[in-house]
Amino acid sequence: MTILVTGGRGKTGIALSKLLHEAKLPFVIASRSGQAPAPYKAVTFDWTDPTTYENPFKADPNIDRIYVVGPEGVYDALPAVKPFINFARTKGVKRFVLLSASQLEAGTPFLGTVHQYLIDIGVEYAVLRPTWFQQNFGASFLGAIRDSNQTFSATGEGRIPFVSTEDIAQIALEALTAEPSLNKDILVFGPELFSHDEVAKLFSSILGREITHMKISIEALEKIFAGFGVSQQYAEGYASMENNVSLGLEEKLFNSIDRQKYIGKHTLEEYIKAHRDLWIKQ
Ligand SMILES: NC(=O)c1ccc[n+]([C@@H]2O[C@H](COP(=O)([O-])OP(=O)(O)OC[C@H]3O[C@@H](n4cnc5c(N)ncnc54)[C@H](OP(=O)(O)O)[C@@H]3O)[C@@H](O)[C@H]2O)c1
Repeated sequence: MTILVTGGRGKTGIALSKLLHEAKLPFVIASRSGQAPAPYKAVTFDWTDPTTYENPFKADPNIDRIYVVGPEGVYDALPAVKPFINFARTKGVKRFVLLSASQLEAGTPFLGTVHQYLIDIGVEYAVLRPTWFQQNFGASFLGAIRDSNQTFSATGEGRIPFVSTEDIAQIALEALTAEPSLNKDILVFGPELFSHDEVAKLFSSILGREITHMKISIEALEKIFAGFGVSQQYAEGYASMENNVSLGLEEKLFNSIDRQKYIGKHTLEEYIKAHRDLWIKQ
Protein backbone atom coordinates (compact mmCIF):
# COMPACT_ATOMS: atom_id res chain seq x y z
CA MET A 1 0.00 0.00 0.00
CA THR A 2 1.20 3.51 -0.87
CA ILE A 3 -0.80 6.73 -0.55
CA LEU A 4 -0.53 9.57 -3.06
CA VAL A 5 -1.07 12.92 -1.33
CA THR A 6 -2.20 15.49 -3.91
CA GLY A 7 -1.97 19.08 -2.69
CA GLY A 8 0.78 17.59 -0.56
CA ARG A 9 2.44 20.94 0.13
CA GLY A 10 -0.87 22.61 1.01
CA LYS A 11 -2.40 23.16 4.43
CA THR A 12 -4.01 19.76 4.91
CA GLY A 13 -1.57 17.85 2.67
CA ILE A 14 1.44 18.75 4.75
CA ALA A 15 -0.39 17.88 8.01
CA LEU A 16 -1.43 14.52 6.54
CA SER A 17 2.14 13.83 5.35
CA LYS A 18 3.40 14.38 8.90
CA LEU A 19 0.89 11.84 10.26
CA LEU A 20 1.73 9.30 7.53
CA HIS A 21 5.44 9.75 8.22
CA GLU A 22 4.92 9.23 11.98
CA ALA A 23 2.80 6.14 11.28
CA LYS A 24 5.56 4.82 8.95
CA LEU A 25 3.06 4.44 6.11
CA PRO A 26 4.47 4.76 2.58
CA PHE A 27 3.35 7.90 0.73
CA VAL A 28 4.31 10.19 -2.14
CA ILE A 29 3.59 13.92 -2.31
CA ALA A 30 2.27 15.37 -5.58
CA SER A 31 3.04 19.01 -6.30
CA ARG A 32 3.34 21.18 -9.40
CA SER A 33 6.87 22.02 -8.25
CA GLY A 34 7.84 18.37 -7.73
CA GLN A 35 9.29 19.39 -4.38
CA ALA A 36 8.46 18.66 -0.76
CA PRO A 37 10.13 19.29 2.59
CA ALA A 38 12.78 16.68 3.46
CA PRO A 39 12.58 13.76 4.08
CA TYR A 40 9.35 13.39 2.08
CA LYS A 41 9.32 12.01 -1.48
CA ALA A 42 7.69 14.25 -4.11
CA VAL A 43 6.75 14.06 -7.77
CA THR A 44 5.75 16.72 -10.30
CA PHE A 45 2.01 16.57 -10.80
CA ASP A 46 -0.54 18.96 -12.26
CA TRP A 47 -4.25 18.14 -12.53
CA THR A 48 -4.40 20.17 -15.74
CA ASP A 49 -1.41 18.45 -17.43
CA PRO A 50 -1.98 14.78 -18.35
CA THR A 51 1.71 14.38 -19.23
CA THR A 52 2.37 14.43 -15.44
CA TYR A 53 -0.14 11.65 -14.60
CA GLU A 54 2.35 8.81 -14.95
CA ASN A 55 4.91 10.43 -12.59
CA PRO A 56 3.47 9.22 -9.26
CA PHE A 57 3.28 5.61 -10.48
CA LYS A 58 6.83 5.72 -11.84
CA ALA A 59 7.97 6.88 -8.39
CA ASP A 60 5.99 4.14 -6.62
CA PRO A 61 4.01 1.49 -8.53
CA ASN A 62 2.30 0.41 -5.28
CA ILE A 63 0.09 3.53 -5.07
CA ASP A 64 -3.41 2.22 -4.38
CA ARG A 65 -5.12 5.12 -2.60
CA ILE A 66 -5.18 8.84 -3.19
CA TYR A 67 -5.92 11.90 -1.06
CA VAL A 68 -7.58 14.27 -3.51
CA VAL A 69 -7.13 18.04 -3.17
CA GLY A 70 -8.52 19.51 -6.39
CA PRO A 71 -7.00 22.37 -8.41
CA GLU A 72 -7.33 25.90 -7.03
CA GLY A 73 -9.81 28.51 -8.18
CA VAL A 74 -12.08 26.44 -10.43
CA TYR A 75 -15.87 26.55 -10.28
CA ASP A 76 -16.21 22.90 -11.32
CA ALA A 77 -13.26 20.66 -10.44
CA LEU A 78 -14.58 17.55 -12.22
CA PRO A 79 -13.23 18.24 -15.75
CA ALA A 80 -9.70 18.53 -14.30
CA VAL A 81 -9.95 15.76 -11.69
CA LYS A 82 -11.89 13.06 -13.58
CA PRO A 83 -9.18 12.21 -16.17
CA PHE A 84 -6.63 11.48 -13.43
CA ILE A 85 -9.12 9.47 -11.36
CA ASN A 86 -9.79 7.35 -14.45
CA PHE A 87 -6.06 7.02 -15.19
CA ALA A 88 -5.26 6.10 -11.58
CA ARG A 89 -7.87 3.32 -11.64
CA THR A 90 -6.07 1.74 -14.61
CA LYS A 91 -2.92 1.78 -12.40
CA GLY A 92 -4.66 -0.15 -9.62
CA VAL A 93 -5.88 2.68 -7.36
CA LYS A 94 -8.85 1.43 -5.37
CA ARG A 95 -9.64 4.27 -2.96
CA PHE A 96 -10.07 8.04 -3.19
CA VAL A 97 -10.44 10.37 -0.19
CA LEU A 98 -11.69 13.75 -1.41
CA LEU A 99 -11.21 17.03 0.42
CA SER A 100 -14.43 18.95 -0.22
CA ALA A 101 -16.19 21.52 1.99
CA SER A 102 -19.01 21.67 4.53
CA GLN A 103 -21.50 23.42 2.26
CA LEU A 104 -20.89 21.27 -0.83
CA GLU A 105 -23.44 18.48 -1.20
CA ALA A 106 -22.81 15.71 -3.77
CA GLY A 107 -23.45 17.02 -7.28
CA THR A 108 -23.02 20.72 -6.47
CA PRO A 109 -20.39 23.01 -8.09
CA PHE A 110 -16.79 23.29 -6.92
CA LEU A 111 -16.07 19.77 -5.55
CA GLY A 112 -19.57 18.33 -5.21
CA THR A 113 -19.33 17.11 -8.81
CA VAL A 114 -16.21 15.08 -7.94
CA HIS A 115 -18.01 13.72 -4.85
CA GLN A 116 -20.90 12.54 -7.06
CA TYR A 117 -18.47 11.03 -9.59
CA LEU A 118 -16.81 8.90 -6.90
CA ILE A 119 -20.24 7.57 -5.90
CA ASP A 120 -21.23 6.95 -9.53
CA ILE A 121 -18.14 4.91 -10.47
CA GLY A 122 -18.46 2.68 -7.40
CA VAL A 123 -14.92 3.01 -6.00
CA GLU A 124 -13.96 2.94 -2.34
CA TYR A 125 -14.21 6.54 -1.18
CA ALA A 126 -14.69 9.07 1.57
CA VAL A 127 -15.52 12.76 1.21
CA LEU A 128 -14.25 15.06 3.94
CA ARG A 129 -16.35 18.20 4.26
CA PRO A 130 -14.52 20.62 6.56
CA THR A 131 -15.65 24.11 7.43
CA TRP A 132 -13.21 27.05 7.17
CA PHE A 133 -9.70 26.24 8.39
CA GLN A 134 -8.10 27.87 11.47
CA GLN A 135 -4.91 28.01 9.41
CA ASN A 136 -6.46 30.55 6.98
CA PHE A 137 -5.65 33.20 9.62
CA GLY A 138 -1.97 32.38 9.10
CA ALA A 139 -2.30 32.29 5.29
CA SER A 140 -4.92 34.32 3.39
CA PHE A 141 -5.51 36.63 6.40
CA LEU A 142 -1.86 36.79 7.48
CA GLY A 143 -0.92 40.13 5.90
CA ALA A 144 -4.21 41.82 6.80
CA ILE A 145 -3.86 40.93 10.49
CA ARG A 146 -0.11 41.53 10.77
CA ASP A 147 0.05 44.77 8.78
CA SER A 148 -3.47 46.28 9.05
CA ASN A 149 -4.84 44.76 12.29
CA GLN A 150 -7.91 43.67 10.39
CA THR A 151 -9.85 40.74 8.98
CA PHE A 152 -12.82 40.99 6.62
CA SER A 153 -15.72 38.78 5.61
CA ALA A 154 -19.30 38.71 4.38
CA THR A 155 -20.26 36.30 7.18
CA GLY A 156 -21.96 39.01 9.31
CA GLU A 157 -22.79 37.70 12.77
CA GLY A 158 -22.79 34.10 11.55
CA ARG A 159 -20.67 31.63 13.47
CA ILE A 160 -18.19 29.06 12.12
CA PRO A 161 -16.69 26.04 13.93
CA PHE A 162 -13.19 26.81 12.53
CA VAL A 163 -11.28 23.54 12.19
CA SER A 164 -7.58 22.77 12.48
CA THR A 165 -5.87 21.17 9.48
CA GLU A 166 -4.32 18.76 12.01
CA ASP A 167 -7.81 17.44 12.75
CA ILE A 168 -8.64 17.22 9.04
CA ALA A 169 -5.41 15.26 8.54
CA GLN A 170 -6.41 12.87 11.34
CA ILE A 171 -9.77 11.99 9.78
CA ALA A 172 -8.09 11.82 6.34
CA LEU A 173 -5.65 9.23 7.72
CA GLU A 174 -8.55 7.24 9.14
CA ALA A 175 -10.48 7.42 5.86
CA LEU A 176 -7.43 6.34 3.85
CA THR A 177 -6.65 3.33 6.04
CA ALA A 178 -10.06 2.18 7.39
CA GLU A 179 -11.11 -1.38 6.60
CA PRO A 180 -13.65 -1.60 5.20
CA SER A 181 -13.65 1.72 3.36
CA LEU A 182 -15.96 4.36 4.93
CA ASN A 183 -17.80 5.10 1.65
CA LYS A 184 -19.55 8.20 3.01
CA ASP A 185 -19.16 11.94 3.45
CA ILE A 186 -18.26 13.44 6.81
CA LEU A 187 -18.62 17.01 8.05
CA VAL A 188 -15.38 18.05 9.74
CA PHE A 189 -15.55 20.77 12.37
CA GLY A 190 -13.51 22.29 15.17
CA PRO A 191 -14.77 22.10 18.76
CA GLU A 192 -16.13 25.67 19.10
CA LEU A 193 -18.20 28.19 17.14
CA PHE A 194 -16.89 31.72 16.51
CA SER A 195 -18.22 34.70 14.58
CA HIS A 196 -15.51 36.68 12.79
CA ASP A 197 -16.05 39.47 15.36
CA GLU A 198 -15.32 36.93 18.11
CA VAL A 199 -12.20 35.74 16.27
CA ALA A 200 -10.96 39.35 16.09
CA LYS A 201 -11.51 39.70 19.87
CA LEU A 202 -9.56 36.49 20.49
CA PHE A 203 -6.68 37.77 18.35
CA SER A 204 -6.77 41.10 20.21
CA SER A 205 -6.48 39.43 23.59
CA ILE A 206 -3.64 37.09 22.50
CA LEU A 207 -1.64 39.64 20.48
CA GLY A 208 -2.19 42.50 22.97
CA ARG A 209 -3.37 44.98 20.29
CA GLU A 210 -6.73 45.64 18.74
CA ILE A 211 -7.68 43.51 15.74
CA THR A 212 -11.02 44.31 14.12
CA HIS A 213 -13.31 42.47 11.73
CA MET A 214 -14.61 44.52 8.81
CA LYS A 215 -18.06 43.34 7.72
CA ILE A 216 -18.29 43.62 3.94
CA SER A 217 -21.16 42.97 1.51
CA ILE A 218 -21.38 39.89 -0.70
CA GLU A 219 -20.86 42.18 -3.72
CA ALA A 220 -17.65 43.58 -2.20
CA LEU A 221 -16.39 40.04 -1.53
CA GLU A 222 -17.17 39.01 -5.11
CA LYS A 223 -15.10 41.96 -6.34
CA ILE A 224 -12.16 40.96 -4.12
CA PHE A 225 -12.28 37.43 -5.53
CA ALA A 226 -12.65 38.65 -9.10
CA GLY A 227 -9.40 40.57 -8.47
CA PHE A 228 -7.65 37.23 -7.85
CA GLY A 229 -8.39 36.29 -11.47
CA VAL A 230 -11.06 33.63 -10.77
CA SER A 231 -14.23 33.44 -12.86
CA GLN A 232 -17.34 35.45 -11.97
CA GLN A 233 -19.14 32.14 -11.27
CA TYR A 234 -16.42 31.16 -8.80
CA ALA A 235 -16.47 34.58 -7.09
CA GLU A 236 -20.27 34.47 -6.77
CA GLY A 237 -20.25 30.86 -5.57
CA TYR A 238 -17.66 31.53 -2.88
CA ALA A 239 -19.42 34.72 -1.74
CA SER A 240 -22.70 32.84 -1.47
CA MET A 241 -21.03 30.39 0.94
CA GLU A 242 -20.02 33.28 3.21
CA ASN A 243 -23.58 34.62 2.91
CA ASN A 244 -24.85 31.19 4.01
CA VAL A 245 -22.70 31.56 7.13
CA SER A 246 -24.40 34.90 7.88
CA LEU A 247 -27.74 33.07 7.58
CA GLY A 248 -26.62 30.53 10.22
CA LEU A 249 -25.86 27.52 7.98
CA GLU A 250 -22.51 26.52 9.51
CA GLU A 251 -23.95 26.74 13.03
CA LYS A 252 -26.94 24.64 11.92
CA LEU A 253 -24.64 21.98 10.41
CA PHE A 254 -22.46 22.01 13.54
CA ASN A 255 -25.53 21.42 15.75
CA SER A 256 -27.22 18.91 13.43
CA ILE A 257 -27.96 15.50 14.89
CA ASP A 258 -28.77 13.68 11.65
CA ARG A 259 -25.41 14.19 9.88
CA GLN A 260 -22.16 12.23 10.02
CA LYS A 261 -19.68 14.54 11.78
CA TYR A 262 -16.09 14.50 13.00
CA ILE A 263 -15.40 17.10 15.67
CA GLY A 264 -11.71 17.90 15.99
CA LYS A 265 -10.00 18.58 19.29
CA HIS A 266 -7.68 21.49 18.41
CA THR A 267 -9.02 24.90 19.46
CA LEU A 268 -8.61 28.21 17.67
CA GLU A 269 -7.08 29.69 20.81
CA GLU A 270 -4.37 26.99 20.83
CA TYR A 271 -3.61 27.68 17.16
CA ILE A 272 -3.26 31.46 17.60
CA LYS A 273 -1.15 31.08 20.76
CA ALA A 274 1.16 28.52 19.13
CA HIS A 275 1.77 30.75 16.07
CA ARG A 276 1.58 34.17 17.79
CA ASP A 277 4.80 35.45 16.18
CA LEU A 278 3.30 35.13 12.69
CA TRP A 279 1.10 38.18 13.29
CA ILE A 280 3.79 40.37 14.86
CA LYS A 281 5.72 42.71 12.55
CA GLN A 282 9.46 42.05 12.88
N1 LIG B 1 -9.15 26.89 3.33
C1 LIG B 1 -10.34 26.61 3.80
O1 LIG B 1 -10.85 27.21 4.76
C2 LIG B 1 -11.14 25.47 3.19
C3 LIG B 1 -12.32 25.06 3.82
C4 LIG B 1 -13.02 23.98 3.28
C5 LIG B 1 -12.55 23.34 2.14
N2 LIG B 1 -11.41 23.79 1.56
C6 LIG B 1 -10.93 23.10 0.33
O2 LIG B 1 -9.64 22.62 0.59
C7 LIG B 1 -8.87 22.62 -0.60
C8 LIG B 1 -7.53 23.25 -0.31
O3 LIG B 1 -7.72 24.60 -0.06
P1 LIG B 1 -6.64 25.59 0.54
O4 LIG B 1 -7.08 26.94 0.15
O5 LIG B 1 -6.45 25.31 1.99
O6 LIG B 1 -5.33 25.28 -0.27
P2 LIG B 1 -4.02 24.46 0.12
O7 LIG B 1 -4.35 23.00 0.31
O8 LIG B 1 -3.27 25.14 1.20
O9 LIG B 1 -3.22 24.63 -1.24
C9 LIG B 1 -3.73 24.11 -2.45
C10 LIG B 1 -2.89 22.93 -2.92
O10 LIG B 1 -3.37 22.50 -4.17
C11 LIG B 1 -2.29 22.26 -5.03
N3 LIG B 1 -2.71 22.61 -6.39
C12 LIG B 1 -3.35 23.73 -6.79
N4 LIG B 1 -3.57 23.68 -8.13
C13 LIG B 1 -3.03 22.50 -8.56
C14 LIG B 1 -2.93 21.87 -9.82
N5 LIG B 1 -3.39 22.45 -10.95
N6 LIG B 1 -2.34 20.66 -9.88
C15 LIG B 1 -1.83 20.07 -8.78
N7 LIG B 1 -1.90 20.61 -7.54
C16 LIG B 1 -2.49 21.82 -7.44
C17 LIG B 1 -1.16 23.15 -4.55
O11 LIG B 1 0.04 22.44 -4.73
P3 LIG B 1 1.37 22.98 -5.44
O12 LIG B 1 1.32 24.50 -5.42
O13 LIG B 1 2.48 22.42 -4.59
O14 LIG B 1 1.31 22.41 -6.79
C18 LIG B 1 -1.45 23.28 -3.06
O15 LIG B 1 -0.72 22.33 -2.32
C19 LIG B 1 -9.69 23.36 -1.66
O16 LIG B 1 -10.26 22.40 -2.52
C20 LIG B 1 -10.76 24.06 -0.85
O17 LIG B 1 -11.98 24.19 -1.55
C21 LIG B 1 -10.68 24.83 2.05
